[in-house]
Amino acid sequence: MNKHKKILCIGAGYVGGPTMAMIACKCPQYTVTVVDINPERIAGWNSDSLPIYEPGLHDVVKCARGRNLFFSTEIEKGIQEADIIFVSVNTPTKSFGAGAGMAADLQYWEKTARQIRDCSQSPKIIVEKSTLPVKTALAMKRILTAGDKKKQFEVLSNPEFLAEGTAIQDLENPDRVLIGSDETPAGMKARKELVKIYANWVPEEKIITTNLWSSELSKLVSNAFLAQKISSINAISALCEKTDADVTEVARAVGMDSRLGSRFLNASVGFGGSCFKKDILNLVYLCRYYGLEPVADYWEGVIRINDFQKERFVLNMLNTMFNTLAGKKICLLGFAFKADTGDTRESPGIFISRKLAEEKARLIISDPQALENAKHDLKDCAGDIHYEKDPYAAAEGCDAVAVITEWKIYSELDYERIFSSMIKPAFVFDGRNILDHSRLFDIGFNVFPIGKPPLTHFEEYV
Ligand SMILES: NC(=O)c1ccc[n+]([C@@H]2O[C@H](COP(=O)([O-])OP(=O)(O)OC[C@H]3O[C@@H](n4cnc5c(N)ncnc54)[C@H](O)[C@@H]3O)[C@@H](O)[C@H]2O)c1
Repeated sequence: MNKHKKILCIGAGYVGGPTMAMIACKCPQYTVTVVDINPERIAGWNSDSLPIYEPGLHDVVKCARGRNLFFSTEIEKGIQEADIIFVSVNTPTKSFGAGAGMAADLQYWEKTARQIRDCSQSPKIIVEKSTLPVKTALAMKRILTAGDKKKQFEVLSNPEFLAEGTAIQDLENPDRVLIGSDETPAGMKARKELVKIYANWVPEEKIITTNLWSSELSKLVSNAFLAQKISSINAISALCEKTDADVTEVARAVGMDSRLGSRFLNASVGFGGSCFKKDILNLVYLCRYYGLEPVADYWEGVIRINDFQKERFVLNMLNTMFNTLAGKKICLLGFAFKADTGDTRESPGIFISRKLAEEKARLIISDPQALENAKHDLKDCAGDIHYEKDPYAAAEGCDAVAVITEWKIYSELDYERIFSSMIKPAFVFDGRNILDHSRLFDIGFNVFPIGKPPLTHFEEYV
């Protein structure tokens, strides 16, 4: 019956591409087209070198591309032909005007809404996939229905909960799929259409439905809670360093409480990614708008701790390496904001590199997937910065190695070989606590983890 249903997704990014590939793969009865204004991205999706790195993505794309999955730059044609349109464009933090640095920049999203309205010749279901401030669906509906009453649009909210690095397994086996709609007969009918798509592979009890505003807010709140968990353990890591407690031990004891859970309790150099900061800022903006200052301050604290953690990491390097980094060679192992992605948006690596460059350190940045993005992020950064994919070559002749991303390969390197190629005294700063610290110490390194006592060969280290 669904044979001819056509799905369009506007925005072929980290969310649009993998999400639509999964839908096409699981639902051969739908034709799925993904469009983007960026022709390079579309060319990438149509090639063997996909524009984003994500484990398992190739197989899912291959399963459907050319059969019922298509990538194209023909946005207007796509809109005209579609029955269901997912909008998955970027919604960064506004950098200008009212709400700058806080509110969402909705210019891409609004352009899309107007384009859908202007190109449509038949009724359509519009699905917000992007993460948007609460009540955006209402604004979308107003734009869509302005001017031409004959066109009928039903707007749904279907926020995406995938995490980069595990996107394919998150899409294949999600904790939940959330669908928000108007609770009118037309809204409920559209809601059913979307449930029907996911029901092709997601168990029904995991598909939850609610009203539009609850759905939009749930996405912001989920990210705020996740980030808050990271900032909570990172805040404690600072205290551990002052008291000789071990943050891993504390996290283990805390996480075994089933009310709290053990995930997201790894102390680190701080969270990054395109979503956490922007979504919390959105939440903070919303709270301030409604006059809820204490609530806004509470959530803003999550971001303040994250900034504090990144600053602390650099200051620790500076203090430890005899209060000067000028001319010292430092190898950053990892630049992506997390392992198994090439995405560097809001990565702590950006802040750390800039700060180290300000201190006139010489930087060698290594990462298995993120070096192109790193070059782009640091293109305006004056300093002695080099990029080297091979970690052994990157560490050679360095005074210090700093782990920024928890790539598994970094815990498996031959650190004896690395040590022997470095300047002495050799330092390791483990910003992800993934290395075997006592072994590194035995090799001869001075080791500085997060939230644990350092292991040094200096006699009077305090
Ligand atoms: N990245 C994540 O892990 C993640 C997870 C869940 C939700 N989200 C949310 O999903 C949304 C998209 O995020 P992303 O990471 O995929 O962003 P992205 O920047 O990777 O992709 C967005 C794409 O939209 C395209 N685009 C912008 N305006 C357009 C227009 N008018 N017409 C056609 N294409 C247009 C851009 O060229 C870009 O390729 C954001 O709201 C984000 O908050 C992201």
